[in-house]
Amino acid sequence: MTDVTPLFRPFRIRGLELKNRIVMAPMTRARSPGAFPNDDNVAYYARRAAGGVGLILSEGTLTRRKGASNDANIPLFWGERPLAGWKRVIDAVHAAGGKMGPQLWHQGMRREPGTGHFPDAPSDGPSGINLHGSKVADEPSEAEVLDMAQAYADAAGDAKRLGFDCIELHGAHGYLIDEFFWERTNRRTDRFGGAIEQRAEFAAETIRRCRVAVGELPIIIRISQWKATDYAARVAATPQELERWVKVLVDAGVDAIHCSQRRILEPEFPGIDGPHGLNLAGWVKKLSGLPTISVGSVGLTSEFLGAFRGEGSGVGKLDETIARLERGEFDLVAVGRALLQDPEWASKVKAGRHDELRDYDAQALQRYY
Ligand SMILES: Cc1cc2nc3c(=O)[nH]c(=O)nc-3n(C[C@H](O)[C@H](O)[C@H](O)COP(=O)(O)O)c2cc1C
Repeated sequence: MTDVTPLFRPFRIRGLELKNRIVMAPMTRARSPGAFPNDDNVAYYARRAAGGVGLILSEGTLTRRKGASNDANIPLFWGERPLAGWKRVIDAVHAAGGKMGPQLWHQGMRREPGTGHFPDAPSDGPSGINLHGSKVADEPSEAEVLDMAQAYADAAGDAKRLGFDCIELHGAHGYLIDEFFWERTNRRTDRFGGAIEQRAEFAAETIRRCRVAVGELPIIIRISQWKATDYAARVAATPQELERWVKVLVDAGVDAIHCSQRRILEPEFPGIDGPHGLNLAGWVKKLSGLPTISVGSVGLTSEFLGAFRGEGSGVGKLDETIARLERGEFDLVAVGRALLQDPEWASKVKAGRHDELRDYDAQALQRYY
């Protein structure tokens, strides 16, 4: 039987004490009609807190830029009613003994024009270029870019005011921040475009503005090499490039980096350290010196994109993930679908109730548990 103790050791990010290493991965549900967290949403998060998750990251929740989203059922993180709903969420999570941060999200050019809460609003991106590399709009001015950064900081300030424990910036998967990182979508010639240091400058500007807004609250950024439209895409082709990328984030004052992979055991640079080499979170931790969160198919046998095609997944082993955590390759383990389906996943694993863990059922996406 796998020794799960390493998953249940406490950890600290900046001043935030976490009781264990299990993070609920951010998962969009688009189940907030009216764009505010409702009773179901409050109970959904409170159940995961009661189920022993160390840190809950919310579904992506939107900044005040009007073109931030493609779906009006995704909750906003601004405005009276959404913020009142989020206050109920964090109070319920705290009452259940949990810790939580909102994942602040802007979909950038992945949003289809004419969709979301404000269908008439234009989409935002670094260069008016979509994820396929086509120019579809004018490049925004520097003042517009700074307002995009400030919109995250405004939400971060509200997160602090409401009592959240940290914030996460969604800088992965081809959304706005990631579109600045990625050469294909960022063709700017000002300080926000060019080499990787300049392409990371929008994230750095955002982190610095968030820091002003949140003070000592931990700031996490989620990054990925892959894009939702291109799984083979890479921002950093070598460890040297990765080091230059993450250095900008470290210098801007980020506290932890959440490295999104579809499979946690996949090595990032197998040509360098072999087929069982460090994963992305391992490399980022080594190169940045910061705590990292790793993720991808934890406790399951297949990766998450199948979930959107209605595919389930078998229960998978935790041994190798826990061994890597124990070796210090990364510090925290985010769990997505397993926790979506089963709010008690963490407490079952802790108590050795492995026979109660179920295969992931694609129907979980359609329901609340
Ligand atoms: C239904 C669903 C919604 C998701 N929404 C988000 C999101 O809003 N933000 C994000 O960064 N990742 C999102 N993801 C990716 C997850 O955070 C996670 O990285 C992925 O599911 C892999 O973890 P898993 O294999 O444990 O499910 C989503 C995944 C699923 C299944």
